[in-house]
Amino acid sequence: MFDLVFTADTFAMFGPDDPAVWSRTTRMSRHEPFTLLAALAAVTSRIGLVATASTSFYQPFHIARFFASLDQISGGRSGWNLVTSSGLSEAANFGLTLPPEHERYRRAGEFAEVVKGLWDSWDEDAVVADKEAGIYIAPDRVHTLNHHGEYYEARGPLTMPRSPQGRPVIVQAGQSDAGRSLAAGTADIVFSVERDLANAQAFRADIRARAEAAGRSGDAVKVLPGAMVVTAPTRAEAEDKFDRLQRLIPDDLGLIMLSRSIGIDLSQYSPDDPLPKFNISENVGHRKVIADYAAREGASIRQTWRELVGSRSHRVVIGTPAEVVDDLAQWFESGACDGFNIMPATFPEGLDDFVELCVPELQRRGLFRTAYEAETLRGNLGLEIPERGER
Ligand SMILES: Cc1cc2nc3c(=O)[nH]c(=O)nc-3n(C[C@H](O)[C@H](O)[C@H](O)COP(=O)(O)O)c2cc1C
Repeated sequence: MFDLVFTADTFAMFGPDDPAVWSRTTRMSRHEPFTLLAALAAVTSRIGLVATASTSFYQPFHIARFFASLDQISGGRSGWNLVTSSGLSEAANFGLTLPPEHERYRRAGEFAEVVKGLWDSWDEDAVVADKEAGIYIAPDRVHTLNHHGEYYEARGPLTMPRSPQGRPVIVQAGQSDAGRSLAAGTADIVFSVERDLANAQAFRADIRARAEAAGRSGDAVKVLPGAMVVTAPTRAEAEDKFDRLQRLIPDDLGLIMLSRSIGIDLSQYSPDDPLPKFNISENVGHRKVIADYAAREGASIRQTWRELVGSRSHRVVIGTPAEVVDDLAQWFESGACDGFNIMPATFPEGLDDFVELCVPELQRRGLFRTAYEAETLRGNLGLEIPERGER
């Protein structure tokens, strides 16, 4: 009874642009998210369906339409993970070069406004379906948008009635200053990378304050840090599972993945050298966690990738179900988050372990639902249905 399932995506092979790496990484083969989630919509009834879609490679009309369709097909369960994309290899599949990060975020802000405007272009009661009068849509209840902006033009209206949940849910994961502002101004959910309780509390407080400064309620944005949970009936078994997985990360791949995360070719160093300084103004969420870890532990390159590459810098929670739940509850109850993006270390076993061992314990403590409260994703997240025209 999770709120949602999230499909991450890029328009290129994941990770370093290197066939030697592709050949050893299962994450390279992936379905196009809308096709996948439309198929999942047909075999599920309550879980939210969230797909990544990039503001750098689509037009707002595409995105508005894709998610509005998925929303109608799923009865109000779709969500858009808004990414601006940073990969050169993605841009190369479109004959494009990406603008610098600050401009990508500026564009994304306008992009999201257009998408919301298009989602709002039909009034809730626009479809009258009056057979006697021969009228399907009340003409005064469908509106053009006539957006002429700095980056985008869109006349509207969208070719689709208003969403059963008002608007599809918007997710964002930027942690840079510009990313946070975009998230606080436009998103319903923020995915974050946090390993430290105090930092997570500060991040959530900052997002809430920014949302309020943008005229929204702090409660309108749910902050969900990633948590890679490894659990088993005993602590020794859980640790053993994690150690076995860690040993499966080949040294050379660990080094390549860390190099890519921090934007430096680490092959020029010895793996036992301290992690060199790197620029943390891009890919801030991951890079800040890596820099904090290396500084705090005085960690070598090898130690850093061993610690962080397996979970892609996210927090790892290892233990018995009671220990895992204690840990998650502490974060939740101390204002570090509104929930978690649970990232099982393996599929399906890691997910099954969480569902079979941790969920009953969470439910016993009143921290996990025992039945869905609503039919839509927005309803299950406890979010208000936005008014037409609301930011
Ligand atoms: C949990 C999570 C999921 C993400 N999913 C994607 C994704 O599917 N596709 C993508 O291109 N970027 C993805 N990102 C990257 C973010 O959209 C963003 O580009 C990154 O966090 C850097 O932004 P920042 O510099 O503002 O922190 C994800 C980030 C996080 C933390």
